[in-house]
Amino acid sequence: MTKPTELRTERLLLRPFRLSDIDDVLRYASDPQWAAFYPRPYDRGVTEHMVARSVVISWDREAVFAMESDGRVVGLVSLEVDAESKTAELGYDLARDSWGQGLATEAATAVVDWGFREYGLARIFAEADARNGRSLRLMERLGMTREGVQRRDQIERGEREIARYALLRSEWNSPGGTLPSTALPSGEYETTDRNQLPELTTARLVLRRFRPGDIEDVFAFAADPEWNRYLGLPEPYSRRDAEEFIAKAMLYDPEAVSMWAIVHEERCSGSIYLRRESPGSATLGYSIARSLWGRGLMTEAASAVVAHGFEDRGLARIYAFVPVGNDPSARVLEKLGMRREGILRSNRVVHGKRIDDVLYSILREDWRA
Ligand SMILES: CC(C)(COP(=O)(O)OP(=O)(O)OC[C@H]1O[C@@H](n2cnc3c(N)ncnc32)[C@H](O)[C@@H]1OP(=O)(O)O)[C@@H](O)C(=O)NCCC(=O)NCCS
Repeated sequence: MTKPTELRTERLLLRPFRLSDIDDVLRYASDPQWAAFYPRPYDRGVTEHMVARSVVISWDREAVFAMESDGRVVGLVSLEVDAESKTAELGYDLARDSWGQGLATEAATAVVDWGFREYGLARIFAEADARNGRSLRLMERLGMTREGVQRRDQIERGEREIARYALLRSEWNSPGGTLPSTALPSGEYETTDRNQLPELTTARLVLRRFRPGDIEDVFAFAADPEWNRYLGLPEPYSRRDAEEFIAKAMLYDPEAVSMWAIVHEERCSGSIYLRRESPGSATLGYSIARSLWGRGLMTEAASAVVAHGFEDRGLARIYAFVPVGNDPSARVLEKLGMRREGILRSNRVVHGKRIDDVLYSILREDWRA
């Protein structure tokens, strides 16, 4: 349980936001030059929403520090935590009249140091528009490594190339410590709206929604440790695991996660999904029963899903993470026309071990180009 926390650095107080900070944030965030890499400068409504949200967040999942200098808020530093993989995304901003003094680096250093210890993180990553030199230099000064560039990402922000940086715990030279204080309520949000998931048909397969009757089929292929090697699902895999998986699959809002059962000769033999990451982009994931490997079936299923993503869902970018070593899966992505964008080091935990992922993507203009 992480509580809202204050950290002090040489020149700054880093503390939780208060609603009384709205005017300070609006002062700097309404500046069009400051907002060059945002969709637009903040107006009062956006600022109020941002600050109010920062006041109610659960610090178990997300830490947002207001950067206070001489009694005024001049920026923020945030960590969005994924407890399962022990990774977090670092975010930051700083008022333009405070640029060039190393304040953002000072604040980010304190938060990174605190985050590694508080959440037991193994990896902290950050991303920025590849043209945002100031932000890239900040990540470099933190000792982060540039791991890749995501092409044509975050189109809703008018951004094209997103540079990804990361820092592993083993690479961090901790400068020293800080202390926690009081707790706030958390806001749980989950949508279970069941819009129609379109059925997709290929030469040999039908992709459709999961049904309760699929439990035995799922259990039959998922209980195979070789199938599970790179997936990191529970082992041994039980009928109950299959049931939970199907229940979740039935509850997903297809707008957020489109999860299809792969049906081959009337049997549910695998799954494939598109998970929306931002309005223009989604991640792709899949698996198929071992008895069917090597017949081009996943390439067939994934082609249909990628076509659906680009042609029916208006996506600009589809990407996938493949553990280093999962060559058949990498091959599927390459056959789809995906390109390697980088290697995300120590990105996840699979069967108790931290693994590196190869990041692949395909852009709409590459598709059938
Ligand atoms: C990865 C997986 C989905 C591939 O499914 P599939 O239906 O066998 O895929 P395809 O037949 O369309 O293509 C597989 C390709 O990998 C190649 N391949 C197989 N074993 C390989 C190996 N050890 N090294 C390199 N390539 C290999 C195949 O030859 C084929 O390429 P080709 O068509 O050029 O000959 C399937 O193995 C699977 O479900 N694995 C378990 C779950 C998983 O790992 N999911 C992906 C997580 S990132």
